[in-house]
Amino acid sequence: MNLLITGGAGFIGSHVVRLFVESYPTYNIFNLDALTYAGNLQNLRDVESRPNYTFLKGDITDASFLEQLFAEHRFDAVVHLAAESHVDRSIAGPMAFVQTNVMGTVNLLEACRRAWAGDYAGKLFYHVSTDEVYGSLGENGLFTEQTPYDPRSPYSASKAASDHFIRAWHHTYGLPVKLSNCSNNYGPNHFPEKLIPLAIHNIKEGRPVPVYGKGENVRDWLYVLDHARAIDAIFHRGKVGETYNVGGVNEWRNLDLIELLCDVMDENLGREPGESRKLITFVKDRAGHDARYAIDSSKLMKELGWKPSVTFEQGLKKTVDWYLANGAWLEEVTSGHYQQYYARQYGER
Ligand SMILES: NC(=O)c1ccc[n+]([C@@H]2O[C@H](COP(=O)([O-])OP(=O)(O)OC[C@H]3O[C@@H](n4cnc5c(N)ncnc54)[C@H](O)[C@@H]3O)[C@@H](O)[C@H]2O)c1
Repeated sequence: MNLLITGGAGFIGSHVVRLFVESYPTYNIFNLDALTYAGNLQNLRDVESRPNYTFLKGDITDASFLEQLFAEHRFDAVVHLAAESHVDRSIAGPMAFVQTNVMGTVNLLEACRRAWAGDYAGKLFYHVSTDEVYGSLGENGLFTEQTPYDPRSPYSASKAASDHFIRAWHHTYGLPVKLSNCSNNYGPNHFPEKLIPLAIHNIKEGRPVPVYGKGENVRDWLYVLDHARAIDAIFHRGKVGETYNVGGVNEWRNLDLIELLCDVMDENLGREPGESRKLITFVKDRAGHDARYAIDSSKLMKELGWKPSVTFEQGLKKTVDWYLANGAWLEEVTSGHYQQYYARQYGER
């Protein structure tokens, strides 16, 4: 199996690449990543010399490059994670999201359609998406696979568009596809612009911890390795043409989550109980901030037997331990030095 994983230098992608490289030694795993600000090859240091792993630097917005790549490597399957992924960045500059998430995805679909030329035996395109495509919930209810799409940010609109294109290529051209829509992830290697790693970093440094609005927005958090395990299960055992929701059954108000994180950090750093909570600072709310996301993953649980392997308290502790033990990683990322790793490792610019 020649398996192409896109976006493998990013947060979730790096965990998926590691899981597949370690679990499937007979697969040839190719990690295609443009190494934007969010791509960090240091995330994969431990697997980069494995014989079944190859890194390919390249941009999915470049259709002719993709065509050449498919001709060269004859991929049997794609797990597509490459994306612009940060909602705040999508509000500041939406076009990059349209380019990568929409055009890049369609380029990949076309590359598969041309390369596989109607012979779909043993072929698969697996698209990794987000629960944000479903919009925002009130106080009750859960997103199911049947919830109508109602994206509200440029990020979620671009992911919703990409999901529609995936299904269109399945229905129109017969391309074998699978999709999953997952809730918010947290864990090691998360870029420190996102809520949990940003808060860990600022608490550690004794800097203000920004919380949007009154901190009342609710998110359903899943440990990133459990998302990677879900992708593995769906890739191998999910039904072609189907969508699976992935979530942690773990809803938290942002403020409650940050307070818990402050307490875990106090304990880890030997601070007085309550000391880090003093750093919490309320800031102007994000434009169009969705109130609540919560996901029903019962289809995935019942059909494929998946369930989260850690509780939130366990996962958060593992995450804090990882960030405190990997100060050098955080330092490289916050200083921007990680962007030189590719040149150092692969001798190119
Ligand atoms: N983070 C979450 O909580 C979450 C939840 C559900 C779904 N998702 C989805 O999972 C996927 C991965 O998310 P993440 O949080 O790991 O994102 P990330 O931003 O950490 O990583 C994205 C990766 O894609 C690469 N990339 C970006 N543009 C590219 C391009 N044009 N060509 C090639 N590579 C490019 C980046 O270099 C980076 O390595 C995304 O599709 C995202 O929508 C994320």
